[in-house]
Amino acid sequence: MLHNAVGSQACVACHPHRAESFFETTHAESLRLVDAKVEPELQSFFHEPSSQQMKVVRDGERIRHQSWQELPQTDYVMPLSDHPVELVMGSGTFAKSYLIRDGDALLQAPLSHYTEQGEYDMSPGYDSPSHLGFSRQVTDDCLFCHAGSLSRVDGNRSVSVLHELAIGCERCHGGGQQHVDLANQLSANSTDLTDLDAAHDWAIVHPHELGRDSLESLCAQCHLQGDVQMFVRGADSWSFHPGEDLAATRLVYKVGPTEKESASTSFVGHFGQMHASECYLGSESLTCVTCHDPHQRVDDANRESIHRDHCLSCHDNLDCGEKLNIRMTTNENSCHQCHMPRSETEVPHVSITDHRIAVPSEQADNDAPAEMATETPVTELPDVVALLDRSPDGSWQRELNEATAIGQWLWMGSNPRYDNTTVFDLATQRLRSAIQTAETSKSDSSVAHVSLVEAKTRLASLLDRVLLFPDKDRSEADEKRLRKESQTLMQWVLSEEKQPTPELQVALESLANAAAAEEQHLKAYHLYQRLIKLRRHPADHYNLGLACGKLRRFGEAEQAFMESIRIQPTYPLPYASLARLYQTIDPRAASNYMQLSQRLRVVQQGDVNVGRASQ
Ligand code: HEC
Ligand code: HEC
Ligand code: HEC
Ligand code: HEC
Ligand code: HEC
Ligand code: HEC
Ligand code: HEC
Repeated sequence: MLHNAVGSQACVACHPHRAESFFETTHAESLRLVDAKVEPELQSFFHEPSSQQMKVVRDGERIRHQSWQELPQTDYVMPLSDHPVELVMGSGTFAKSYLIRDGDALLQAPLSHYTEQGEYDMSPGYDSPSHLGFSRQVTDDCLFCHAGSLSRVDGNRSVSVLHELAIGCERCHGGGQQHVDLANQLSANSTDLTDLDAAHDWAIVHPHELGRDSLESLCAQCHLQGDVQMFVRGADSWSFHPGEDLAATRLVYKVGPTEKESASTSFVGHFGQMHASECYLGSESLTCVTCHDPHQRVDDANRESIHRDHCLSCHDNLDCGEKLNIRMTTNENSCHQCHMPRSETEVPHVSITDHRIAVPSEQADNDAPAEMATETPVTELPDVVALLDRSPDGSWQRELNEATAIGQWLWMGSNPRYDNTTVFDLATQRLRSAIQTAETSKSDSSVAHVSLVEAKTRLASLLDRVLLFPDKDRSEADEKRLRKESQTLMQWVLSEEKQPTPELQVALESLANAAAAEEQHLKAYHLYQRLIKLRRHPADHYNLGLACGKLRRFGEAEQAFMESIRIQPTYPLPYASLARLYQTIDPRAASNYMQLSQRLRVVQQGDVNVGRASQ
């Protein structure tokens, strides 16, 4: 998917030193084949919340991840999974994740290895009674930041063919096909290659010649992480070409409790913090690569001197107001340890070093957001702050983008305090009116904004959720109207969307569920059939099984329930359905399935995700 890519190995012959210096860095270790010999010591542990035993074992040249489910009121321990690990994600600075394969699909393992603790534990997001086990597919979204280059199969983001495992040269320098052709041509004509005038345009990105926005974009494509990320009309993550401004294809927002609610004024992430620094504001040139050279490995031996030199390229040692003898006690005058303190958290994807360079006394107000009461419901919309969106304030584009970002944040269930009718009604009103304005505004369509397909999908899925909230004041007519509005929107998305995007998946799911609810089982059947070709969710197969049952296609129903269980053996619902299918033909099997279903429910009791199996 990387435009014009040839792979890093093609650069080595002509740029041996640049290649070597890059290959030593952690970027070049971001994804690799598992090597059983160097993987951390094998361990087993018991995950209390899910009652699962987890084990990492060596099997010849391979590493396997295995798990078992303990069940209440029985000695039977149910085998869940036993998979060879194919890929390791992460150099291990903080952690390593593991990927396994099921046919075409790459799956994320529920356990990761944490470097500082020196042990395996549940992966982030998996420390719950009904975690997803080995069912979660690693999509192109995850691989975009951790893999070098890949292509999709039939445009499907869930199925990736990896061409280069680790992050490579072309992710920063752009696809090199033309550059390599040009260099080869010139050398074939025995032109002196070091003579830069031989070609005005080397058809390759030279970072030092980029403006600040496009230079930062090189890093931001992977390091800028907000609460909500969306794409401009027709674009996806791979539409970004190094050398361009990331804001032309992508929009990123911080969404969350209002400032007065969270008592926090913290600047988020490496970018937000850097942008708030006096060093950034007061200089023309400071940016990520001022302090992080992608061609230099930083380790504990050279870390202090490298970073001090960066500060001293703009400051004099004597600029510091602190006494030198005190400074010498902090790792021999480590500027960043006092001016860019580290926080305790070492969770991947959380900024650890405070990139708001400031005098220490002023950093106190830059702490992580204060703990909030988690109970009281909120009845206003969350704040939305653009981290990357160059549309003018007050323009219809900005309004459409922000309303959609809020919609997405609520749809993801980011904060349970916002999951109520009042907030969702406000959000749908805002989104509806933003869409209306967008549809009637013909001016400025060149300004980057989110697609109407995305905006309408979000609106429709919020409406679907509103209908799930219990509300005694809602009349039957209201309910009908909301349902109609959602279906009309989803139908439009379905007809509009030619590619298997996440929006198409949402529309298929919503329309299939609606058809099933209205007893249109054949229609539901066909929609679920389309959906299971696009993604790998146990609930889709389960729902397909139910539709088959209604159509009295029992063989197909059985297959669908079995597939649902194969994907996620801890999902209780399909066991209960199998029990009903077997009731008359095999009462013993039926009773076993029913017991399994009930016991799995007991294990997962009290977990908010029970039965949703959403990913
Ligand atoms: C056949 C030889 C050859 C190959 C292969 C090659 N380059 Fe180059 N490259 C050159 C020459 C020659 C120059 C210009 C002189 C110089 O700066 O060394 C150059 C310049 C560059 C520059 C600096 C551009 C500038 O404006 O000064 C970058 C960055 C670069 N190459 C990256 C790459 C990458 C990435 C690859 C692999 C995709 C690659 N090169 C493959 C020969 C090659
Ligand atoms: C294709 C995605 C991608 C791009 C582009 C990218 N990074 Fe990274 N970066 C990562 C990932 C993933 C890691 C974690 C690597 C690991 O340890 O496995 C990382 C790690 C880092 C680290 C921590 C390194 C360490 O070991 O201490 C720094 C600093 C960093 N990147 C800076 C940059 C800068 C500066 C740029 C822009 C010139 C950049 N990155 C471009 C994905 C990317
Ligand atoms: C938007 C880009 C992005 C996405 C998407 C992303 N990561 Fe990362 N990841 C990073 C960056 C950048 C780092 C480097 C450190 C940091 O800034 O937190 C990182 C760090 C990590 C690390 C720790 C690496 C180390 O050496 O300590 C692991 C493990 C990891 N990511 C796994 C995943 C998995 C699994 C997924 C998908 C489910 C994922 N990441 C999705 C950008 C991303
Ligand atoms: C994470 C981003 C990133 C990756 C990946 C990366 N580079 Fe670079 N590269 C840079 C930056 C930033 C500079 C400019 C800073 C510098 O001069 O060191 C640079 C400079 C260069 C230059 C020198 C340009 C000049 O000034 O003459 C060459 C050649 C080059 N890189 C080649 C490569 C090759 C070959 C690879 C892969 C083996 C690679 N780069 C991987 C970011 C990257
Ligand atoms: C590209 C140049 C540049 C680099 C590199 C740089 N600074 Fe600065 N820094 C500035 C400028 C400009 C200011 C604004 C005040 C001034 O003019 O001195 C500033 C201000 C500061 C301040 C005062 C902040 C305040 O809120 O009053 C501190 C402290 C500081 N820098 C520390 C550092 C440290 C520590 C490093 C290295 C990690 C660093 N700087 C790297 C240019 C830079
Ligand atoms: C003024 C210097 C400076 C600038 C500018 C800077 N960093 Fe850093 N960065 C540091 C220091 C110092 C550390 C901590 C020491 C280390 O990891 O080597 C660090 C650490 C990191 C890490 C490792 C994880 C963490 O939070 O500790 C990442 C990733 C990173 N920086 C990314 C970026 C990105 C992206 C940018 C641009 C938005 C950026 N940095 C700009 C100095 C800087
Ligand atoms: C032991 C912690 C410590 C270390 C190490 C340290 N500083 Fe400071 N720095 C401070 C404190 C505290 C202040 C505020 C002093 C004051 O009240 O004026 C300060 C102030 C500053 C200022 C702002 C001065 C002003 O007038 O606004 C700059 C610039 C600065 N330091 C740069 C550096 C640089 C560069 C280094 C490394 C060579 C460094 N500091 C190392 C603690 C430290």
